[in-house]
Amino acid sequence: MTTLTDGIDTRSDSTLAGFGLDIRPIGGRIGAEVQGFRLSGDLQPATIRAIRQALTAHKVLFFRGQTHLDEVEQEAFGRLFGDLVSHPTVPSLAGTEHVLDVDGSRGERASSWHADVTFVPDYPSISILRSVVAPERGGDTMWADNVSAYDELPEPLRELAEKLWVVHSNVYDYVGDRQNRSEQALHRYQTVFTSTRYETEHPLVHVHAESGVKALILGHFSQKIVGLTSTDSRLLLDLFQSHATRPENVVRWRWSPGDVAIWDNRTTQHRAVDDYGDQPRVVRRVTVAGVAPVAVDGRRSFSRSIVRASAAA
Ligand SMILES: [Fe+2]
Repeated sequence: MTTLTDGIDTRSDSTLAGFGLDIRPIGGRIGAEVQGFRLSGDLQPATIRAIRQALTAHKVLFFRGQTHLDEVEQEAFGRLFGDLVSHPTVPSLAGTEHVLDVDGSRGERASSWHADVTFVPDYPSISILRSVVAPERGGDTMWADNVSAYDELPEPLRELAEKLWVVHSNVYDYVGDRQNRSEQALHRYQTVFTSTRYETEHPLVHVHAESGVKALILGHFSQKIVGLTSTDSRLLLDLFQSHATRPENVVRWRWSPGDVAIWDNRTTQHRAVDDYGDQPRVVRRVTVAGVAPVAVDGRRSFSRSIVRASAAA
């Protein structure tokens, strides 16, 4: 058992067992499995508070065997944490209000580091991902701890990071170094994902709205540091990213159908591992609304532009 720190609650995880939460940390810094717990839309507020507390401490929580959940029940569970939000450009799964369907066979592999939807100011606070079909081998997801990444920066870099603002956009280097992008996936990125183009400025370091901890905001939607050249921006973003994704800051989950991962989207980044070839892999996500992050000096993230692709052409 561990002690919850981060200034939130000093009760031990064993206390949370009173709410039915048997918490087993996985990584030294990030990630815990909650064993023997049944997720539903009927959980009591005190239980949801306990899950939030565990989420603040461990940043990503894993629940195995939630095969009773369907899309309706996943949405109902998500609403216990706040209003759900749909993806800004990708239509929700047919028959659902807010469920994002991520199907590897369509080339949706999410295989570079990101936090969900950081190209808008009030990006999601919490994401809830459910495995529907898992490959027999491969297709894991990794999460990185953006709080530890900030905490362990040398003082001069921490001071620099606190002064920097970063432009995030959904128009980013989608192909990157991944040579196996399918035509179908590229077409979907061009016609659906970027059908409206967003640009948002976030501080590189924000103060978490609930816990007060400082965390980096990074990931593949980060395009440019305000006031720097593209070259200097890339070098610096890569530098901070390399701290964030050190193995010591990362936890990795091997999926089985029915597994659910819940993460604090404000203190983590994540990526899938694209090593499953043609095996089927389907995950479904709901996201909980967030508020615009606040920098250490109190300024808030803001939208720079929203342009419909047809208007931008
Ligand atoms: Fe994601």
